[in-house]
Amino acid sequence: MLRIGLLTSGGDCQALNATMRGIVKTVLHNAKEPVEIYGFEDGYQGLIYGRFRTMTWDDFSGVLTQGGTILGTSRTPFKLLDTPEADGVDKVSAMKQTYHKLQLDCLFMLGGNGSTKTANRLREEGLTVIALPKTIDNDTWGTDITFGFTSAIDVATRYLDEIKTTASSHGRVFVVEIMGHKVGWIPLYAGVAGGADVILLPEIPYDMDNVVKAIEQRDADGGRFAIVAVAEGAISKEEAALPKKEYKKLVAKRAEKYPSVAYEIANEIASRTGREVRVGIPGHTQRGGRPDAQDRIFATQCGVEAARGFLAGKSGFMVAKVNGKMTRVPLEDVAGKLKYVDPKSDLVREAKLLGISFGDE
Ligand code: F6P
Repeated sequence: MLRIGLLTSGGDCQALNATMRGIVKTVLHNAKEPVEIYGFEDGYQGLIYGRFRTMTWDDFSGVLTQGGTILGTSRTPFKLLDTPEADGVDKVSAMKQTYHKLQLDCLFMLGGNGSTKTANRLREEGLTVIALPKTIDNDTWGTDITFGFTSAIDVATRYLDEIKTTASSHGRVFVVEIMGHKVGWIPLYAGVAGGADVILLPEIPYDMDNVVKAIEQRDADGGRFAIVAVAEGAISKEEAALPKKEYKKLVAKRAEKYPSVAYEIANEIASRTGREVRVGIPGHTQRGGRPDAQDRIFATQCGVEAARGFLAGKSGFMVAKVNGKMTRVPLEDVAGKLKYVDPKSDLVREAKLLGISFGDE
């Protein structure tokens, strides 16, 4: 008898169910012995408190196209892993206890950066763990892409497409805030796909003079409207030069005045250009709805690769795509690292050649 556990941790995304289906179908098709499947509810919380359901093939039938996660998810911050829960429960011991009580042979963890760090900690504690790279943010180190990313780009791109017609009718500037606090993969890709005139990313600090110049240039070129795609974590050159503590203070102060960074940028653009400016925020719709075809394929590949590794007796890795090939990378190499947009990458260079401003020059 083989016993496997599944959990989805952190912010949800579109292809979580497709990934679990990939794991389960592959294991059930190829295992040489019966398999018991335990689905933990609401991420690591389910493992901590022993909240799980036993699952069968049928639970994973028809979920390929279903967004969200059939198991539910939650955030269990890695930095608080050694801080007991409000009811005094020691998280790590409780997770180990549940794992051993159920006599699991492997825990499959679908999660982003923080969740992968926790998976690595559980590996260090002696559990058999396999991680799968989930996040719309695409910021997981060690893999070219994460599942959820392409579906999120699609949502953000459609939002930009739809904003354009109203922006054009009114001759307005729209500042569209796209998800990504620390990294700007979605705003970069959606910005290019959606024809933004300015893209502001956390990795490329901007100067408002350059942003204003780009908007005025677009006006001079006869563009009736302008689209500024702003990452949640867009940062100005002055802000980027501040010590981390000072920057955090500034962000807290900004929050007293503006709901988010897009509003501050919009306000500044309005006062410096005299243009009518509006803010648009697709928000959590970027994580919602059905996975696109590319995500379904990659999610399935991740599930198959994870299951293949497990059936071959391997663990302690995260499945990844590197240079177009599915592979496994050691959890200890991945945990705690973020994959940032390279300001010198091809896509940034090409976007600049096309005339898109990143506000840096
Ligand atoms: O990690 C995915 C993500 O959607 C980020 O892009 C975003 O900054 C954050 O989660 C939002 O978090 P929450 O769902 O907790 O509001």
